[in-house]
Amino acid sequence: MSITIKSERETELMTEAGRILAIVHDELKKAVKPGVTTLDIDRLGEEVIRSYGCEPSFLNYNGYPASVCVSVNSEVVHGIPSRDRVLKEGDIVSLDAGVIYKGYHSDAARTYGVGEITKEAEKLIEVTQESFFRGIRYARDGCHLYDISAAVEEYARQNGCGVVRELCGHGIGTRLHESPEIPNFRMRRKGPKLKAGMTLAIEPMLTAGGEEVRWMADGWTVVTADGSLSAHYENTVLITEGEPKILTLGAEKVRNQR
Ligand code: MF3
Ligand code: CO
Repeated sequence: MSITIKSERETELMTEAGRILAIVHDELKKAVKPGVTTLDIDRLGEEVIRSYGCEPSFLNYNGYPASVCVSVNSEVVHGIPSRDRVLKEGDIVSLDAGVIYKGYHSDAARTYGVGEITKEAEKLIEVTQESFFRGIRYARDGCHLYDISAAVEEYARQNGCGVVRELCGHGIGTRLHESPEIPNFRMRRKGPKLKAGMTLAIEPMLTAGGEEVRWMADGWTVVTADGSLSAHYENTVLITEGEPKILTLGAEKVRNQR
């Protein structure tokens, strides 16, 4: 499949889908506290998404049963929200959500500490976020897709983090997952040339240990094989003639966008 180039109208709809998702994440962030269940977070996410007239992009996607993926500690991605999973001080939690606005998807993930967390956990979260920003230095018309991949991996490794290789970022638009796959590690080829109008969900998934992962018996939850902590950071990004536009960035993160 080729990579879709969005028209100006489509870009506007993607931008709105991204803006709303940034608001959803701002609301979810406030809810992360000791004593909250992962189901509480999912319920809040669904409510906020629907309050903006959007559909939760993940709900029923290939049978996924929730609107927000909530992944705690050694869970990398796709944790299934549960009323029995209570967040406690010292946990780290990754929240991944997507919205559909007038047929267009946005997709973004954040990782937060619950109360006080260890230095190691704090560093993992920061390195994961920064690896995304290193990657998008190459999210420009005329660069090659795997320039992004290599930059993410290089920064992660320099900072002692493992890079999950079994899961990738992806193109996004009228479908949640479009071409191309976006690895978070160096490839032997350069990959496709990037062009203005492409929309990409770039999503490093890093660990504080090894890079091997396992799938849990629920068929969804991905965990680190060695039990190490994992963090996830994702935004939907529009390639332009100039600087990339991060469509899912809320007010809180602008300072991190050098
Ligand atoms: N951000 C994740 C991804 O791009 C979302 C998975 S959605 C699910 O794959 F519905 F499959 F859980
Ligand atoms: Co994604």
